[in-house]
Amino acid sequence: MGMIQVAIDGPSAVGKSSIARLAAKKLGFIYIDTGALYRAIGLAATLCGIDANDAARVEAMLANIRLELRHDPDGAQRVFLNGNDVSEDIRTPKASMAASAVSAMPAVRAFLLDSQRKLASQSNCILDGRDIGTVVLPNAQLKLFLTATADERARRRFHELQAKGISQSFDAVKAELIQRDEQDTNRAVAPLKPAADSVLLDTTDLSLEEAVARVTALIQFI
Ligand code: DC
Repeated sequence: MGMIQVAIDGPSAVGKSSIARLAAKKLGFIYIDTGALYRAIGLAATLCGIDANDAARVEAMLANIRLELRHDPDGAQRVFLNGNDVSEDIRTPKASMAASAVSAMPAVRAFLLDSQRKLASQSNCILDGRDIGTVVLPNAQLKLFLTATADERARRRFHELQAKGISQSFDAVKAELIQRDEQDTNRAVAPLKPAADSVLLDTTDLSLEEAVARVTALIQFI
């Protein structure tokens, strides 16, 4: 029998990764945070002193990049860039903006496409990202598109960054989220948008536990 594939897409800080990780844990699925791959490429550019908007140089850099995803026993995903664990380094505001910039480049998207599909073919899985339902897994058995107001998403990201000791004002967090969503939505290749056959879920007024319960129920219904 084929594997069950669940696609979860939506804008920045809508809760995709937390929901996907917890739902996957409940169901014994593998959870794959595809944003981490784009973030690692953005980080690699920064580490190489390359402007993340410089498509020619980012593209040339790809030949020297090796990415690997591993999972902790609790299901949390870790990302390795050329053998180094960069799971924390990719979460800074700078890495977020760099990820969004490189993710608009067709060469970067092509570089990551096959490995995402391969990962998804090996186990029952939940992938979260921006183009999972539209491009990466067009045949996923369930496609979810999460939304929440910009204020609520900024509030969640603000607290997440604070917990990590990264100080950025609420207004700056919100402005960056909005800018990133605009870039991700308006790019030519694989833009952020709901797949035609996706289920929309507004998480604005849902707690994490409630959102996980809804998603888990939908998956069990497949
Ligand atoms: O999900 P995230 O915030 O970690 O993603 C970081 C950036 O990567 C996001 O701004 C857009 C890009 N991305 C993408 O283009 N396609 C995906 N499937 C996942 C992320």
